Amino acid sequence: MSPHASTQVDEVVDGIYRIATWLPESGITFNQFLIDDERPTLVHTGMHDMYDAVRDAVAEVLDPARLAYVALLHFESDECGGMDRFAAEAPESTLVGSALSVGLNLSGWDYQGKVQGFADGETLDLGRHRLRFIETPHVHHWDLMMIFDEPTRSVFPSDLYVQPGEQPAIVDEDLGEAMCDFYRGVGIFAHEQPVRAVVDRIEALEPEWMHAMHGGSLTREAIPRYTRALRERPFAYDGRLLGRDVVAPEDAVPGLGAPPGEASGSEGG
Ligand SMILES: [Fe+2]
Ligand SMILES: [Fe+2]
Repeated sequence: MSPHASTQVDEVVDGIYRIATWLPESGITFNQFLIDDERPTLVHTGMHDMYDAVRDAVAEVLDPARLAYVALLHFESDECGGMDRFAAEAPESTLVGSALSVGLNLSGWDYQGKVQGFADGETLDLGRHRLRFIETPHVHHWDLMMIFDEPTRSVFPSDLYVQPGEQPAIVDEDLGEAMCDFYRGVGIFAHEQPVRAVVDRIEALEPEWMHAMHGGSLTREAIPRYTRALRERPFAYDGRLLGRDVVAPEDAVPGLGAPPGEASGSEGG
């Protein structure tokens, strides 16, 4: 058995490959996406110690030394923990992030590779594919951005539209409720409002594909079911981090979440 038997490569649509690593202890897959084009691009890297598995999966499609861009969608280890290792193998590659990621995080650390930040609406031509960047702050990190590939109408939403469990490359099933329950238990969103505003922006793009970082790629038919769940169900932090009880927001900030005039501690009644 291959040491990386749990990492699987599938072409989802027109040169976009999902590289999925199933980690049973986390209960989710960790997906990277490779865009095979004149300027090959890897969207997220996986954690630092996942590098060999992801690198070997890339090598099934193209030489990792040819990578022109590595895109991180927010500064977190599963998104970009392997960035220095990919840059070492592809020294001409450029690390792409949101303008905020680059200004805030990459300029203050010891990262040695080339970096390029993108603001909302800016684009990057890969050849047949053309990426448009969407700044989506606070979904779930300050520096978060998403990518829209115009010709395939593909959204790369990182941690939005995820599905827990070991999912196939393409998912049609409605797991919207499971997604919201997963978000609540993990505690990755501070509030529903910034997420719902981004969901409206994504819907207006009329996406054909949603390449979730955890789970499978959602089809055009499946996406609205998840959008509906995000609009209708609670999913923001309620006092749990990775399933562990911490402090519920209404306990940490007296009055938070109570209707006007009924805030706890209010003298006005
Ligand atoms: Fe994340
Ligand atoms: Fe993630």
